[in-house]
Amino acid sequence: MPNNTEREQWATKIGLILAVAGNAVGLGNFLRFPVQAAQNGGGAFMIPYFIFFLLLGIPLMWIEWGIGRNGGRYKHGSAPGMFDVIWKNKIAKYFGALGLFISMTILIYYTYIESWTLGYSIFSVSKLYFDADTAETMKNFLYSYQGREEGVHFTNILPAYILMLITFSLNFWILYRGISKGIERLAKIAMPLLLLFATILAVRIILLGTPDPSVPENSVWTGFGFIWNPDFTLLGDPKIWLAAAGQIFFTLSVGMGTIHAYASYLKPKDDIVLSGLTTASTNGFAEVVLGATIAIPVAVAFFGLDATKEFAKGGAFDLGFVSMPLIFQRLPVGELFGFLWFLLLFFAGITSSVAMGQPVIAFLEDEFGMDRKKAVGLLAIVILIAVQFVVFFLKYGFLDEMDYWAGTFGLVVFAFVETILFMWVFGADKAWKEMNEGGDFKIPGMFYYIMKYITPLILFVIMVWWLINDAIPILLLEHVSPENVPYIWGARALMVSLFVGLLLMVKKAWTKYSNVEVKN
Ligand code: ALA
Repeated sequence: MPNNTEREQWATKIGLILAVAGNAVGLGNFLRFPVQAAQNGGGAFMIPYFIFFLLLGIPLMWIEWGIGRNGGRYKHGSAPGMFDVIWKNKIAKYFGALGLFISMTILIYYTYIESWTLGYSIFSVSKLYFDADTAETMKNFLYSYQGREEGVHFTNILPAYILMLITFSLNFWILYRGISKGIERLAKIAMPLLLLFATILAVRIILLGTPDPSVPENSVWTGFGFIWNPDFTLLGDPKIWLAAAGQIFFTLSVGMGTIHAYASYLKPKDDIVLSGLTTASTNGFAEVVLGATIAIPVAVAFFGLDATKEFAKGGAFDLGFVSMPLIFQRLPVGELFGFLWFLLLFFAGITSSVAMGQPVIAFLEDEFGMDRKKAVGLLAIVILIAVQFVVFFLKYGFLDEMDYWAGTFGLVVFAFVETILFMWVFGADKAWKEMNEGGDFKIPGMFYYIMKYITPLILFVIMVWWLINDAIPILLLEHVSPENVPYIWGARALMVSLFVGLLLMVKKAWTKYSNVEVKN
């Protein structure tokens, strides 16, 4: 290895669990999940959601912990080196570049969204948005903050830009502090607070019942009914299944390359079976118990079911940033609940975004022998340049395009690649032994078959379905408005440049290395 120094390690087991749970629990649980559920039939969405949690989420969690811990044994903290270990083929490491690309690309836009939550927590306590009391004016508040339209509250993008810089600096400061002193400490503080804030909000919302007794159908119970009573007739629509699979990926952070990086700082005989299950379950709890109890029921209680569905249709952020602020204005001490909601989102976001920075940092440290300061600095420069496009071209769909390719499509592809490499190329028996090594219990035998056959099959079907139904119109931008087209191509060019850059760096790392000694 270029870097012969000792790799970092997690200081405590609870710290590790909280860090990986923090990696998973994110904006996806509290913002993306309610929107996806509301857009895709509520209860009908929950059925494929639970099926995919079992057939994709949990198996991929174990696969990624397994690949990651195994890579760490050979001092690899990122996918190129990890794949190189499990597949003795020159091209293996290049497949790993996908793991670097996805985590890095999501990091670019995720930190920006995260910064909005920090901003809105301040706007809540200061009651800045409390005079925007209709959906239109609240949307204008959001859009003017984002620089998408002229507004009463914001005349330029400067506040958003400053908050982006603050969020960005916080993320990189934590990454600079390292695994145990940075990421682990953050998780130990942010995760309990996040769960506490979410519980307070969930209880407050349940206690709301029917805010206006003259409209009995507008109650939190109607909202719960919508999420938990499936309309089975909707299950024939493949879109609902795809949306559920997409949510499982995003929310558990599988297919991103981030879990691998965290797992690489384990000792070879540390348990991953119970840890993997615990983090997946914590994420599931935060999503279907806390996430599902907040945004949808309260919106239904105040605005009714149809209006809630309309909010969800309005886009990924309208439920969280438009309907919730409207509700806080109508609650006693709403500024405090607003503050808790947005700060909870910020904690959820930052514990996930630092995880997205770690794979590239580990790559630079482990494969180029860079020290942490240099690795963090280099990543910070690239992200800071790239985020400018996201900030200034938001209204032209730049962020959405990156989210589509990296945060949706890329996850499925990377998950498919890693499953095939681990369960088929490395070999299911060896992989099974690796995952169970040091386990606090043994993975139930049926998962052997699920991981070997069912998980890759589902991933394959999703990709084929995409190829047949979506590939051409999406690639050719058939549904994009003409004025956005150049920006969408710009986003694609940026992503291609990042990916090619990473491929070249992988090549360079291995060329440099092969001159020193034979890898592995
Ligand atoms: N898993 C992270 C989230 O849910 C990325 O936001």
